[in-house]
Amino acid sequence: MSAQLPTELPACVLRPWSAADRDDLIHEANNRKVWRNMTHTFPHPYTERDADLWLAIAADPGASIQLAIDVDGRAVGGIGAIAGEGIFARTAQFGYWLGEAHWGRGIATAAARALAQRIGREQLFARLEAQVFEWNPPSMRVLEKAGFERQAVLHSAATKDGYLIDTVLYARVFERAGPVG
Ligand SMILES: CC(C)(COP(=O)(O)OP(=O)(O)OC[C@H]1O[C@@H](n2cnc3c(N)ncnc32)[C@H](O)[C@@H]1OP(=O)(O)O)[C@@H](O)C(=O)NCCC(=O)NCCS
Repeated sequence: MSAQLPTELPACVLRPWSAADRDDLIHEANNRKVWRNMTHTFPHPYTERDADLWLAIAADPGASIQLAIDVDGRAVGGIGAIAGEGIFARTAQFGYWLGEAHWGRGIATAAARALAQRIGREQLFARLEAQVFEWNPPSMRVLEKAGFERQAVLHSAATKDGYLIDTVLYARVFERAGPVG
């Protein structure tokens, strides 16, 4: 997905990451409060090297989608769908994060709605999944507002920040199960 994707917020679009986002990426991502809600692939502290590695991954995402959340021309966070492999190729892990200064303004909801809608319309995946940590109700709310349903609580499924925690599995399903082709 290379083109710019509008959202319901006029100032906010989803667009490919660019090398010019490096400083903004480090500024927004280098935050323990963001890291605490992300999987182990999101580093802390977030160094210049981490930004370079991320920008290289995002430039060549393969079957996955990785986009910057752009507000007024600056990258303030990221959103993506990581394609599964083999029998899970039509499922993607949906994720997003936003720099703390931008929380509470409906930006993640607008971004999640826009990307999920595009994926469904273009039949890029049959199913989107997200596992939210038990201490992250704002993200559960974002997913609910973006049309995901709460499907399960996965007890003691993850270890984060010194705790064994439950995760809540959310999914948005675009295609019914049945014969393919
Ligand atoms: C989670 C995150 C993406 C939310 O972004 P955001 O732009 O602030 O979210 P929005 O403003 O679109 O919506 C947040 C919703 O959570 C609600 N909310 C906030 N605090 C809450 C709480 N303690 N309990 C329940 N709901 C809460 C808000 O009221 C809002 O819902 P509403 O519109 O129905 O009122 C952002 O905080 C973030 O990046 N956190 C760190 C990384 C992360 O958690 N990523 C997701 C991993 S699953």
